[in-house]
Amino acid sequence: MTENLWSPQELREQFPILQREVNGQPLHYLDNAATTFSPIRVQEAIAEFENHFRSNVQRGMHQLGMEATDAFEAARQSIAAYLNASTAQEIVFTPGTTFAVNMVAYCFGQSLQSGDEIVVSVAEHHSNFVPWQRLRDQYGIIMRIIPVRSDGSLNLDNLEQLITHRCRLVAVTHISNVTGLITDLQMITTAAHQHGAVVFVDGAQAIPHGPVDVQSLNVDFYAFSAHKCYGPTGVGALWVRYELLEKLPPFLTGGGMIERVTIGETRYATAGERFQAGTPPVAQAIGMGAALQWLQELPWAHIHRYQERLSNRLIEGLAAIEGLRLQGESSVVGRVPIFSFDIANCHSHDICHILDELGVAVRGGHHCAQPLMDALGLVATTRASLAVFNNEEDISALLAGLGKAMELLQ
Ligand SMILES: Cc1ncc(COP(=O)(O)O)c(C=O)c1O
Repeated sequence: MTENLWSPQELREQFPILQREVNGQPLHYLDNAATTFSPIRVQEAIAEFENHFRSNVQRGMHQLGMEATDAFEAARQSIAAYLNASTAQEIVFTPGTTFAVNMVAYCFGQSLQSGDEIVVSVAEHHSNFVPWQRLRDQYGIIMRIIPVRSDGSLNLDNLEQLITHRCRLVAVTHISNVTGLITDLQMITTAAHQHGAVVFVDGAQAIPHGPVDVQSLNVDFYAFSAHKCYGPTGVGALWVRYELLEKLPPFLTGGGMIERVTIGETRYATAGERFQAGTPPVAQAIGMGAALQWLQELPWAHIHRYQERLSNRLIEGLAAIEGLRLQGESSVVGRVPIFSFDIANCHSHDICHILDELGVAVRGGHHCAQPLMDALGLVATTRASLAVFNNEEDISALLAGLGKAMELLQ
């Protein structure tokens, strides 16, 4: 699809699932931050593996095994290209973001000593919070917390006090799954690197919104899940700066990650290979590669302009609802199209239920970010999150549905 030929309708046609109805209504899917749909191209890439060269990778001495290995490694290349990694060897396939955080916490954690400090923001998804908290309890380290302002944005005013010479690692989200606000990573990496600390970034909500450049972001670890960026479930990627990856001890051990095994000892493989114990999720990885290649080819300038228009309409519509409080800035600047709101005297689960009856899928609850909810004095919010295939009708259906919910609940 070239820039000139791009149209939202053409893009929608690549997602057969958008044709289905829910509760007798056309589907308006606005829960993309949880999991989004995959385009035909991703499904075809997986089908090709399954129907033409399904076999194990990096082991087979036969044609199918070599074709599977080529497709698997091409997927790694696509991911590396999307992230602008300096080499595809920096890409480790994982089952998803949660796994990646746990893996880094385990591997990096082994070098921590009592008195060391890690810094985490209060706005993290539980996936990027609980593993560090457990590390704190296991190793007797100190966990410092970057607070948020009342709009949910990270408050970096006291970064110098938070990130000190004792800090070993800072873990932050690139984009909040609740507010959609983009983190100022530059301030954080500058402060962390000044003290020799490394920066782990949870990119789960950033990757779906356009290519990321891990080199210019100057981060050290970057993790995300394929199912949030138009790829399959059960797979994700962890990018680790090569010099760091080389030094990390393995997480899982077994076949595929060794150089030599004897009864007495095992010598592990180098860098990325050391983190690939057992048969990897080959079909899913190939699907993920196809998703990122598809994403890389999208005309992002057009899409961002189009999504800004939809977002402005949504923000305006939400502002007109009495008692509604939108989290994050009431503007499209510095955010992606993820919108969380609460409405006085209405529980988000009731709102979600009413919207679902009307074919509108959104998310309600604490969004696996209870420390953030506590900091903002919230119990739950309703969240609408847009993908590249959402259109004006989706926004209209959401706003009309909220009007109906207000009639029934208030
Ligand atoms: C910011 C963020 N981090 C991590 C995760 C966890 O991702 P997964 O469940 O794919 O491991 C999510 C999922 O919602 C998320 O939004």
